[in-house]
Amino acid sequence: MAEKRAVETRMSKKRVAILISGRGSNMAALVEAAKAKDYPAEIVLVLSNRADAAGLDHARKAGIATAIVDHRLFGEDRAAFDRALDAQLQAHQIDIVCLAGFMRLLTPAFVERWTGRMLNIHPALLPHFKGLDTHRRALEAGVKQHGATVHFVVPEMDSGPIVAQGAVPVREGDTEDSLAQRVLEVEHRLYPHALRLVAEGRTTFAAASGKEPSR
Ligand code: GAR
Repeated sequence: MAEKRAVETRMSKKRVAILISGRGSNMAALVEAAKAKDYPAEIVLVLSNRADAAGLDHARKAGIATAIVDHRLFGEDRAAFDRALDAQLQAHQIDIVCLAGFMRLLTPAFVERWTGRMLNIHPALLPHFKGLDTHRRALEAGVKQHGATVHFVVPEMDSGPIVAQGAVPVREGDTEDSLAQRVLEVEHRLYPHALRLVAEGRTTFAAASGKEPSR
């Protein structure tokens, strides 16, 4: 019986691509979580827009297929870059895309194609501190709570329906680095949890936003 359940979980695991631009520590956390037999998703592709992204090595060592789509080859043509991304995702029969420190803006056409199937992690408690330098701005604003958010991606940056959030206290004497470190620890627990919710269908775009996904 237990074996039958394990086989069913394996067969129905969602195929996930993680898109990175750099270090890839959130990617590593997702890869680690997905090793569990009962995890509802498998990481089948790690894709980067930069050949020198450190996370690619980690993925290769973990035996995961990697791909590089270098944005510089496409110049100003963001649509062509996104079509190249999409071709990779189609080739690997991806069900869910996880942006994890992927520092490229995606075109509305690409985002709409993946609506309800693409997640992003942002290092702040959205809707506060959208964009870059979130930890510096949180310190400047004097907030007492900061954190991270996993959300469905919509064309407007850092604005989609929220899947999960994790908060941390801002402490007296915190620096950007100390705060970033505390938030990152939360991110590494939060993203695997959020992907589980989405892969199991326990959270959907429609449920999180009140709108139907435009597939
Ligand atoms: C993470 O803190 C992630 O939340 C942030 O970049 C870092 C990537 O680290 N993402 C953004 O700022 C997106 N706007 P990682 O490469 O070690 O996962």
